[in-house]
Amino acid sequence: MADQAFVTLATNDSYAKGAMVLGQSLKNHKTSRKLVVMIGPHVSDPSRAVLRRIYDEVRLVDVLDSGDSANLAMLKRPDLGVTFTKLHCWTLTHYSKCVFMDADTLVVSNVDELFDREELSAAPDPGWPDCFNSGVFVFRPSKETHGKLLQFCTEHGSFDGGDQGVLNAYFGDWATTDISKHLPFIYNLSSVALYTYAPAFKQFGSKAKVVHFLGSMKPWSLTFDTTARRVQGDVEGASSHPSFMLEWWLLFATSVLPMMKQEYGDTPFHSGCESSVHLSISQGEDISGAASLSSLERKHKWEQGQADYMGMDSFDNIQKKLDSFLK
Ligand code: UDP
Ligand code: GLC
Ligand code: MN
Repeated sequence: MADQAFVTLATNDSYAKGAMVLGQSLKNHKTSRKLVVMIGPHVSDPSRAVLRRIYDEVRLVDVLDSGDSANLAMLKRPDLGVTFTKLHCWTLTHYSKCVFMDADTLVVSNVDELFDREELSAAPDPGWPDCFNSGVFVFRPSKETHGKLLQFCTEHGSFDGGDQGVLNAYFGDWATTDISKHLPFIYNLSSVALYTYAPAFKQFGSKAKVVHFLGSMKPWSLTFDTTARRVQGDVEGASSHPSFMLEWWLLFATSVLPMMKQEYGDTPFHSGCESSVHLSISQGEDISGAASLSSLERKHKWEQGQADYMGMDSFDNIQKKLDSFLK
């Protein structure tokens, strides 16, 4: 197991927050594999320090940028040229097999069984199902493959301007050759699909193992009211199921934020967490309001910063509550 790892990427402090939550979610679900995060030079020192507390390996890599503004404009994501950097995951040859996960994914169940799969296994892209989504994939590190992928980029570019276009062209037989390389959608449940195919979500959503907050609005683009335990802002624009979004924020606020506070010290940083003591919470509110998680008394305790993280408000209990919403 020591020669297998989950790998993610963060080129800046925003995606680093995603990586922190992802790493912590893998740990909470008791993975037996190593955790690796590749970072770019722009990730700040305190963020690196937090990542080192969560990950076994924090590896500095060169940022590669496709510079392909035309194709990225079609994707409506001018920021994604740097996702070429993902290709460096093939250089991690001290591991025999790895699972890459985008920094905007969240594990909601143990997914170690993914290591039973072969390169290149991935789930269908919700927008174009003959392509795989490159937010979660199984691969075998190899200097040779790394070299070939970079050469492929130079010769052919990427049809979407990002890594997903290159990888789908390079592993071009994914759609037709070997069904065992098609990961079930529950290993990369893209938030965009939740609304476009609601009946399927109703049927299969409770089996989700990995949630992917795909799209330009990320959990960390929103804010979280720690008093009401409510995500604020355009939650629907981030188009994820409210309870998954809530789960991301609860994990951030309870596990990641305390580490950030320690590592940042007096250096200011954007946590996205706010406390509104004035919020009145009526009982029996809808599920997107986290209020229904608690009694009034617990609410007061939370407001005083006395959440019972080891007991009633433990991650496991919160998880159980979230699971019950999904059923
Ligand atoms: N990424 C990064 N910095 C960036 C953009 C992307 O580190 O500025 C990494 C990060 O791991 C992210 C992945 O590349 O999860 C793919 O980008 P994103 O998740 O935003 O794409 P989407 O899944 O929304 O298409
Ligand atoms: C996709 C994937 C993401 C990838 C991006 C650029 O939408 O979700 O992982 O980085 O396209 O190719
Ligand atoms: Mn993503």
